[in-house]
Amino acid sequence: MCGIVGCVLNKKAAPTIIDSIKKLEYRGYDSIGIATVTDTINLKKGSGKINEVDSEINLKDIDGNIGIAHVRWATHGNPTKENAHPHCDCKNNISVVHNGIIENYKELRQELIKEGHIFKSDTDTEVIPHLIEKYMMEGQDFLTSVQTTIKRLVGSYALAIISKDNPHEIIGVRNESPLIVGVGENGNYLASDVPAILNETNKVIYLEDKEIIILKQDNVQIMDFDLNPIKKEITTITWNSEMAEKGGFEHFMLKEIYEEPQVIKDTLSESKKIQEIVQKFKKFNRICFVACGTSYHASLIGEYLIESQIGIPTEVILASEFEYFNKTLDDHTLVIFITQSGETADTIKALKVAKEKSETLAIVNVVGSSITREADHVIYTRAGPEISVAATKTYLSQLICIYLLVAHMGENQELLHKLDEISDLSEELLTHEEQIKEIAKKYKFAKDFFYIGRGFNYPTALEGALKLKEITYIHGEGYPAGELKHGPLALIDDNIPVVGILPPGPSYNKTYNNLQEIRARGADIIILGASNDTQIDDVEDKILFNPIIDEIIAPLLYIIDLQLLSYYISIEKNIDPDKPKNLAKSVTVE
Ligand code: F6R
Repeated sequence: MCGIVGCVLNKKAAPTIIDSIKKLEYRGYDSIGIATVTDTINLKKGSGKINEVDSEINLKDIDGNIGIAHVRWATHGNPTKENAHPHCDCKNNISVVHNGIIENYKELRQELIKEGHIFKSDTDTEVIPHLIEKYMMEGQDFLTSVQTTIKRLVGSYALAIISKDNPHEIIGVRNESPLIVGVGENGNYLASDVPAILNETNKVIYLEDKEIIILKQDNVQIMDFDLNPIKKEITTITWNSEMAEKGGFEHFMLKEIYEEPQVIKDTLSESKKIQEIVQKFKKFNRICFVACGTSYHASLIGEYLIESQIGIPTEVILASEFEYFNKTLDDHTLVIFITQSGETADTIKALKVAKEKSETLAIVNVVGSSITREADHVIYTRAGPEISVAATKTYLSQLICIYLLVAHMGENQELLHKLDEISDLSEELLTHEEQIKEIAKKYKFAKDFFYIGRGFNYPTALEGALKLKEITYIHGEGYPAGELKHGPLALIDDNIPVVGILPPGPSYNKTYNNLQEIRARGADIIILGASNDTQIDDVEDKILFNPIIDEIIAPLLYIIDLQLLSYYISIEKNIDPDKPKNLAKSVTVE
């Protein structure tokens, strides 16, 4: 959460900085701010999305070749202009943007107030410029003051700092929040994530925790917290900024759903690498998945697959709950971390704990992200940049990796063959758009939705409900089909649409009967079924006919209907599906 950018250029920096920070708006959009250095610190900020603030105060109209900017996802302090970053010291000589949380900010703030510092915001961040000011007033230079300051901070932080008295450099710091360096022809860059700088350069240095950077126009120095120099490799990024643009679609979310057939193909091409990795997994007699949100739902499908296809005891633990379940880990347990961003704080924390006792595998989308550098083994999901806050194509790419993993672990050729057909079949789902638009129109006023599925398709129900909540603000609940009669059936009436996931297979009859029980209580039913299913034809209200595939493969296709359904309900409700309120793409706080 929160995105930061900094650049030191051979030209006016603000236009580049604002274009770059726009690429990070998925990380937070509560407020935006920019600061540059000339013979003074120039500052502009406001609450709201970048375009809204820009149209009021013209953010690019600010001089200086060096600058920093921030988009905020509020943690401490309301999303107001006062709380927007950058934050300054008392005399506006130092300016800081921060992603992360300073856990001991209350004590530091009290101490600084006692010493006469004047605070202008409610944020945890503001203690940082005041501490740097304090140490500079005591005679330390800029770098040493930053070093002394970070020794006093407890928590997570990626920082970019400018000083009026040091007008040729930005100091960056990384500790438990993401930060990368871009090395370009017109100067150098700092950013929370690669898409921010791809228009300027594809040469990237990935930073580790506890590193300090001095960024100048023609050079970048990286050192540890004791200021010992560190040599780092420059990585060339192979995807370009266009791949992170909307490409003619109204929203990133729709574009990303349309990319799914290609993403499935690209991820399937990792099959050989996955086959090689699983050769090392023969000794494990227990598997534990750890993840959050959508990645958690992908993990649940992994659990069903491994238990049913390979017979290894498997469990799935939410990363934020992991600390209560890690006591029984041992060297015969493989712990698999699933994460799109590779930067989710809960997942990183769990990985650090798991590593002490067990071998770890990370299934990650963002190359070079923090988790890829912590895990023993890494599989990349090959979905490319996902900009919309709601995960769509990355979920499918995670599922493909999990299916490949299971197929190779179980040497299951039949499953591998079934996977080969999935990309082509997924194209068919995209033809449901018009029908789904009609369903979205009909149900946009619903207050609650139920999604039911059984076995492999129960996690699809959970993921469908999560997508609905995230981008339509309608309450959606995913339930195992057989469990509804144990309580929630009491809620069912003609105001609640129920989505039934009903692919052919051993679970079909039971789920079909559960849907009849619901129908008998007056609910409207939307069925996702196979195109040759004649039983549902005349009984149900709305049917989305899908390719004829067995229930074990259905999670790879049926979710596309549910992603499109949520997308079109959000459009009907005039909500921007790419930027749902209160959410951020990368959740870098616990
Ligand atoms: C939902 C969504 C979130 C993420 C969750 C974990 O659409 O995107 O629920 O899945 O925040 O994020 P990663 O996968 O980056 O660890």
